[in-house]
This record gives sequence, C-alpha cells and structure tokens, in this order.
Amino acid sequence: MEEMEVKEAIRVDHMVKYYRTRKKVVKAVDDISFSVLKGERFGFLGPNGAGKTTTIRGILGLLRGITGEISLLGKKINPNKDTTYRNHIGYIPGELGLDPELNAIQICKYLSKLYDISFNLDEILKIAERLKLDVIRPIQVLSKGNKQKVGILTALMGDFELLILDEPTAGLDPLIQAEFFEILKEKQARSNCTIFICSHILSEIEKNCHRVAIIREGKIVEISDISELKEKGLKSFQLEFTTNKGLQDFLIYLQNECPSATIKSQSANSVEILIPPEKKRFLLHAVSEKEWAGEYIKDFNVNNSSLEEIFMKYYDEEEKNIENMEEESK
Ligand SMILES: Nc1ncnc2c1ncn2[C@@H]1O[C@H](COP(=O)(O)OP(=O)(O)O)[C@@H](O)[C@H]1O
Ligand SMILES: [Mg+2]
Repeated sequence: MEEMEVKEAIRVDHMVKYYRTRKKVVKAVDDISFSVLKGERFGFLGPNGAGKTTTIRGILGLLRGITGEISLLGKKINPNKDTTYRNHIGYIPGELGLDPELNAIQICKYLSKLYDISFNLDEILKIAERLKLDVIRPIQVLSKGNKQKVGILTALMGDFELLILDEPTAGLDPLIQAEFFEILKEKQARSNCTIFICSHILSEIEKNCHRVAIIREGKIVEISDISELKEKGLKSFQLEFTTNKGLQDFLIYLQNECPSATIKSQSANSVEILIPPEKKRFLLHAVSEKEWAGEYIKDFNVNNSSLEEIFMKYYDEEEKNIENMEEESK
C-alpha cells in the first residue's frame, strides 16, 4: 500500500500540564487539541498567562509531566525521552538562554553545530542586515529588541521544516516587525515550511496567519480561518441622512426590524451601527431603497467590524474577573 501523505505538521491531542508550586497548583494547559497543516502559518493567540508558552514548551519536550499525545510531521513523539526531533525545528523562545559573551554570528555557528545543520554565513548576514542587527557585538550589550533579533536569526538561519515562534516580535519596532514577517513569508514561499506563531497581539496574527487558535485560561476557545472569523463578526453600517428627522425615522425602523442592532456612535445626521451578519442584506436594501423623512439616504458605508471586536468576546469574561478581583481587594 502506498504511504498516506502526511498533511499535518503538528498534532496535539488532549495535552494537559499542571504546574505545582509550594503555594498552589496551576492547570496551565487544560486538555487542548489542535492540528497545524503543512505549509500554513498558524497563529496561537491568547492573553498573557493563557498557556501559549507552556504549550510550545510541551511540544518541544522542554517540560516535565505533560500528558496527551503529540505528533510532528506525522511522527508520534515522546517529548520526555526523544529530543533529537528538536533539531529539525526552528524555535524562537520567549526568553533567550544564550551565552551573553557571544555575538550573533558566534551563536549561530554554535547552534548550527548543536543542531547539526549547515552554517550559511551569507544567508545569516543577509537576514541580519534586513533586521538591522549588529552581528559583531556580544549579546550582553544588546537591547531587548536586538536580543530578540538574535533569536529570530537562529530560527531563520536553517532550512527547518517547522518553525515554532514564541512571541517573535516582542520588543521590535514596527518597521522591523513588518520586515520580519516579510522574511518569514519569503522563506515559506521558498521551502513550504510550516510556521506556528504564538502571540498576544491580535493584529499581527490577523495580518500574517491563515488560521488561528484562540487560547484562554489553558483552553482553546476557537479554531478558525482568519477569513471565517471575520465573516462571523458583526457588520458595521455607517449611515448619513439628509436631516435629523430622517435619522430619527430610521432609528425607529431599526428598533422594530432589527432589535439586535447596537448603536456605536451617533451625531445629528449620522450614525454607526453594528448588526449581525444575517441581517446585512435586509438592512442594505432598506437603507438604499427607502425614504427617510421624505429623502433618500445621503451616504453609507458597510464594513466588517474589526477582528478586534470579535476578539473582545473572548476577553470580556477575563476582564470581568479582573474587575471582581479589584472589588474584593477594596
Ligand atoms: N514555571 C512555572 N511555574 C508555575 N507556574 C507557571 C510556570 N510557568 C507558567 N506558569 C503559569 O502557567 C500559566 C500559563 O503560563 P504561560 O504558558 O507562560 O502563558 P503565556 O505564554 O500564554 O503567557 C500562567 O498562569 C503562569 O503563571
Ligand atoms: Mg508566553
């Protein structure tokens, strides 16, 4: 029989991780399952403390006491025993644990020996230049952002099939962030490698990934295509009427026909409302065909609400919890 082609680069099934300290037990990762397809850029998004780094360190075999199953590139791995598979993964850790007296080139040289991969100085210098990284100065004198660039360099220098990036843009200025994603995409276009990026910043995942899993308090609350996630979101209608009376007529109509609409902002003759996607055609029709206080609408605009607004739904509860804690501490 022909071997089935493996489509999944990462597969995690029922991963659980507890941290036990003297004071308390934290369930940092609470029975999560997901898979990342070969060749995609997959975002792993969640607020600080959600369990992103724990998940990554679990996959990489850097933690004890993980339960669940992990497969990488079709092979089931045992992170507590087998560690050589790590050599095939480009990894940017949240915190670099590198010899502070070495410079970027020395670190790349050292790591390429360790991982048993080729050392391509030209490639390294090219990436360093694009990231505006000084490769000669020892990392102990580099700023946080420049240290982060060294981490990026070590993950991008090899021909890894899989890149696992833990908050890769932390400390980088926006231009360098954009350049970093540019390099990442070029690399992927060349090699079809798989990229797993964890981040707490929605916009960077929205812009740069195909799919996203959202993690909160150790649980995955959503896995979706970025485009589907946007579809699910509310539609924003910005409407401008000729008169205030026209606007008032419309608002009465809206309340009767679409009570689930919410008003985001309002002025004398204009209003911005958010409506559920299933109402958009109906409302678009009414807005363009009907007369309001005897006149057609002056102007309108329809947009997807930003992913930010969709995302708030997953963060809301957490904020309530924080508020409660503040209450209690008063
Ligand atoms: N070494 C540790 N010992 C105890 N608790 C930890 C440790 N590392 C992380 N945690 C806790 O586990 C939870 C998840 O942390 P982490 O995976 O670092 O989240 P994220 O990377 O999403 O910010 C947090 O509540 C954090 O405080
Ligand atoms: Mg983290």
